[in-house]
Amino acid sequence: MKFFVDTAVIEEIAELNDLGMVDGVTTNPSLILKSGRDIIEVITEICALVEGPVSAEVVATKADDMIAEGRKLAAIAPNIAVKVPLTWDGLKACKVLSGEGKMVNVTLCFSANQALLAAKAGATFISPFIGRLDDINLDGLQLIADIREIYDNYGYETQILAASIRSANHMSECARIGADVATAPPSVIKAMANHILTDKGLQQFLADWAKTGQSIA
Ligand code: E4P
Repeated sequence: MKFFVDTAVIEEIAELNDLGMVDGVTTNPSLILKSGRDIIEVITEICALVEGPVSAEVVATKADDMIAEGRKLAAIAPNIAVKVPLTWDGLKACKVLSGEGKMVNVTLCFSANQALLAAKAGATFISPFIGRLDDINLDGLQLIADIREIYDNYGYETQILAASIRSANHMSECARIGADVATAPPSVIKAMANHILTDKGLQQFLADWAKTGQSIA
């Protein structure tokens, strides 16, 4: 499973990128706000830092305007994936932009039917939002499984990009179900390293080591 990092903060991306943990980046208008940066400037910097796809989201709501914004964003770098919302206009924009050879990430997906439409419209990525479904007592991971089954039934090449990930458990479950990509905040990717038995075991080893009176350095 590929790891995308869900942030527009350069320092956070760079730290994970140095460890080989970043196969791509996703941003959205809320993440741009959080970064405090100009969208064109920060997306340009991210694209220079990371080799994989960098999602930059349009904010227009009409297809023609989305297409114009998508072309402008795609001109920033060859690794831009234009992010469009899963609305009827977004699907129209997806069809045109993907037809021009641009990567398109269709976002705000909350149902298998929406994912089916995105694949038909030529999306490179479909972004089902797990956490926001869980928030309203629906099953976000079940949606990933449903889309996986549907795409495999027909050989759709659209990649399932599990989004709105809130926990390390979401990451391993997405990998088990067969999501192609999971995008998560840096804190969640780092939390994947944690285990209480690792901490306990290390504490014991260090205590025993201190008793040996030895030094390696
Ligand atoms: C990524 O593409 C999404 O915009 C993001 O994962 C949404 O996450 P949130 O529901 O935590 O805002």
